Amino acid sequence: MDRQTQDFAELFRRFLEEVVQAQPDAGGLSPIGLRLQEFLGTDVASLPVVTHAIAAHRLVDADVALADLAAESGSEPLGVSGGQMRDQAALGELIAPPHRFPYSPGPIDYVSVPSGPDSTRRVMSFGLHLLRFDGSPLVVLQRAARPERGRNTASLEVLTADPAAADAFLAEFGRRMLALSVLRGQVLSFTGNEYGQSAAGATFLPRPTVAADDVVLAPGVLDAVVRHVVGVGEQRERLRAQHQHLKRGVLLYGPPGTGKTLTVRHLLARTPGTTAVLLTGSGIRFVTEAAELARAMQPALVVLEDVDLVASDRMMHHGPQPLLFEVLDALDGLDGDADVAFVLTTNRVDVLERALADRPGRVDLAVEIALPDQESRRRLFARYADGLPFGAEAVEAAADRAEGTTGSFAKELVRRAVLAAAEAGREPTDDDLAAALDGLLDDRSRLTRSLLGTPSGSDSGEAEAEGMSGGGSVTGYTAGY
Ligand SMILES: Nc1ncnc2c1ncn2[C@@H]1O[C@H](COP(=O)(O)OP(=O)(O)O)[C@@H](O)[C@H]1O
Ligand SMILES: [Mg+2]
Repeated sequence: MDRQTQDFAELFRRFLEEVVQAQPDAGGLSPIGLRLQEFLGTDVASLPVVTHAIAAHRLVDADVALADLAAESGSEPLGVSGGQMRDQAALGELIAPPHRFPYSPGPIDYVSVPSGPDSTRRVMSFGLHLLRFDGSPLVVLQRAARPERGRNTASLEVLTADPAAADAFLAEFGRRMLALSVLRGQVLSFTGNEYGQSAAGATFLPRPTVAADDVVLAPGVLDAVVRHVVGVGEQRERLRAQHQHLKRGVLLYGPPGTGKTLTVRHLLARTPGTTAVLLTGSGIRFVTEAAELARAMQPALVVLEDVDLVASDRMMHHGPQPLLFEVLDALDGLDGDADVAFVLTTNRVDVLERALADRPGRVDLAVEIALPDQESRRRLFARYADGLPFGAEAVEAAADRAEGTTGSFAKELVRRAVLAAAEAGREPTDDDLAAALDGLLDDRSRLTRSLLGTPSGSDSGEAEAEGMSGGGSVTGYTAGY
């Protein structure tokens, strides 16, 4: 070793010693901890972390709001490296890890999340913002929900030496989440995921385009529903000025296949700009979240489809289901002057009547969507035969023969006639229509008729029809929006 190398070796040895001795001075901080300490200018290991939970379906809104606030202080986000499990560590553990794990500045984790019926947004699922708010430096960690790990909500974790700044920041964050929300004015459906009960995911649906003419009901029925749901909203200001409540609840009841869901779709078409939340079947367990969102986004519409399903399940054995009470509480929970309409549909009003009567005022309009009478059937058949080469008399005769059937029956009948003709390689004729009707009215089609929502008459088929129709959407005709 020459002299120069010896000097360097000595220098390097002293350098290493200093590094080792300096270690305790870092207070056990990881590299990311040191970075945050430098930014906040204070002993980060002793600072409290304020955690703010965010419903999983609001993650996009949180990301938008936080990005907006960060842009104002001109800050760039920062990721954390350190293995798969780092997003399980609390912010405090990232800063001063128990086993001196070297969490370091690194790449940011993103997920792609729907932000509309046809759009997605790249959202930070695990990353930090180092920003200034009201003159104070703040560190904000954004974390997505991880239901597969038992974490059902997203969250922000705020670290600052100034607790008042953290409070003010979170208040402003909440305002922006609301003001910039991607959920506003959308049609949403809430569904769970396979991991847990409480993590609601929101799915964006395109707004339906069902015109009033597409809904064939007895005269005045559709108008009454529209007036209650849409009309009250249109007179919002006046009603408020005269101290009238805006919150309203409509119950649509009647046999399956008669147009309850179709009516709902028309209501959605009539209310562009209104935020709508649709809950069906097991999704009804998210009724509290839906009502909260509706209040925040009003004007809003909350639809509970086939609400009897939550009530009927174990009613016989254990009394009414807690979920039904949750529904009733949600209907009752909002202020009267919230511009929120609840629309409930059911095939089994008997199951609900008692619970609704026991707690009056939740539903202020109950409308029967009955089996169509002869007049309505003629209109229904004419509508579904429209544009097809059937004679008007043949269509009318079919409608008259099809007593006791529903709108979904009329639609399926016409489809069968068209299909039979297509298979024979020709245009459909009146005979095809009559033959299709014979087939559907045939005794052997009793189950199909019942699945189309048509009671099977006075014979033994009645009980069977009851049992099948309880499922509501088994026909497959009721499923889609
Ligand atoms: N009153 C109606 N007017 C027009 N079409 C109807 C009517 N009732 C049912 N239909 C047809 O049958 C389909 C199923 O009806 P739906 O509204 O889902 O019944 P439900 O009352 O069970 O909710 C509708 O999408 C529509 O095509
Ligand atoms: Mg329905």
